[in-house]
Amino acid sequence: MKQQHGEKKCKLMTIMTTNKTRIAVFCSGGGSNFKALFQAITARQLSAEIVLCVSNRSQCGAMEFAHENNIATFHITEKQFASFDDFAAAMLQELKKNQVNIILLAGYMRKVPDVVVAAFSDKMLNIHPALLPKFGGEGMYGIHVHTAVLAAGETETGATVHFVNEEYDKGALLLQRSVPVLSNDTPETLAARVLECEHALYPDALEKLLTRQK
Ligand code: GRF
Repeated sequence: MKQQHGEKKCKLMTIMTTNKTRIAVFCSGGGSNFKALFQAITARQLSAEIVLCVSNRSQCGAMEFAHENNIATFHITEKQFASFDDFAAAMLQELKKNQVNIILLAGYMRKVPDVVVAAFSDKMLNIHPALLPKFGGEGMYGIHVHTAVLAAGETETGATVHFVNEEYDKGALLLQRSVPVLSNDTPETLAARVLECEHALYPDALEKLLTRQK
């Protein structure tokens, strides 16, 4: 009898440990980080699965990639709702419906509603194309970041993965990696070097988060 109980417990443990972390990726654009995360989860055999792609754009590279790879998509914008609260509630409901455990922002160009941030505190990450706290905050996105880095005469820049709180780019840092700024760089060449760095950094940060949560 005792042994049977032990066996049951063992089976239950197996079920619990094989449960994959369910991830929603939020994107607005090309989705190259989304693709890198998707590929790394398979290549590194992480115990995680991207179950939902959320976007404010019905058509973009990220949504296309999700469709091609049978990942559920959710197109949501404030305009579809009578109020911001309704928009936020609908977003939260969809995340709950898909039993999402972790949110990864990957080029999502909208502010995530505070109720969603609160529901996923310590479970939502963002990637930023600079070494935060430098070159962060409102207006610091895309090519603007790299233009500012060059204008400031920096000799190195990089990428940062951080937790998301109610303020833009202000959450606790999880992982950072630097890349050099070259004397002949343009904002575009610098952006390409940083983006390449991001594609390895974000999966590393995800791995770090998954290990922490074990
Ligand atoms: C990346 O540079 C990321 O740091 C920033 O938005 C960009 C998204 O690029 N938050 P992509 O859509 O993943 O290619």
